[in-house]
Amino acid sequence: MYRILKKEMLAPKIKLIQVYAPEICTHARPGQFVILRMHEKGERIPLTIADSDRDTGLLTLVFQEVGKSTTELGMLSEGDSILDIVGPLGTARDIEKLDCVVCVAGGVGVAPMYPEAKAYHLLGTRVISLIGAQTKDMLIFKDRMEKVSDEVYYSTDDGSFGHKGFVTEILCKLLEDGLRPDEVIAIGPLPMMRAAARVTERFGVKTVVSLNAIMVDGTGMCGSCRVTVDGEVKFSCVEGPAFDGHKVDFDELIARQNRFLAEEKLALERYLAGVGGCKCHQK
Ligand code: FES
Repeated sequence: MYRILKKEMLAPKIKLIQVYAPEICTHARPGQFVILRMHEKGERIPLTIADSDRDTGLLTLVFQEVGKSTTELGMLSEGDSILDIVGPLGTARDIEKLDCVVCVAGGVGVAPMYPEAKAYHLLGTRVISLIGAQTKDMLIFKDRMEKVSDEVYYSTDDGSFGHKGFVTEILCKLLEDGLRPDEVIAIGPLPMMRAAARVTERFGVKTVVSLNAIMVDGTGMCGSCRVTVDGEVKFSCVEGPAFDGHKVDFDELIARQNRFLAEEKLALERYLAGVGGCKCHQK
């Protein structure tokens, strides 16, 4: 059992929880994830690690309430327990000192971007972060990202903070102005990562994306997280989640993910009806 030691609301429907998990923190590296189950009948929820501290054993996870299980997770309070957390899972990326990296993060993708940006920063790499959200209220990890970045640019869909428009438009402008980072890392919604990869391909800049594909077992057994990379089927839970963004078949992946939206919506509606509506879970 893992007791929730801290819970924080970062933005509407985006929450942070911290648990004591020293065995996971000892091995966790940037880009890896965990799978948790709240109770015996709970769905497995894959969450990328937002931070891990080897000294204190504190594991930080950030999630957005998008379906039944994440909404249920969001209703837990400090002091409540999670039945099990498995991890770290996935293949960690080798992070080495480079001259410059650009971190493009959208929405809740800023949380898993943080350990990557931090790792590059600690090695002395120049880190330029581009952070996008729907509105100013939805921007998360602003202070943390500013601490580990040399420059930070913001965008919001409604123009309430930073550039009005997509974060990939800032990326495009920087590359058009002559910036040539060693690597671009993109983490966020699939359409954002697809757009980032399309922009960087034009300029021949290496791009790594982190695929939050649908996962079930997280160990390469079920096949639900399959993705086509360079014409070959890969399982993002064991061979990823990081892949060469120029080789991922995003169109296929987006079509696959959209297939489950109706079922997700129905499950959430049933769950909320069962707990008496959704007003009480924003704590
Ligand atoms: S989640 Fe089952 S194979 Fe990857």
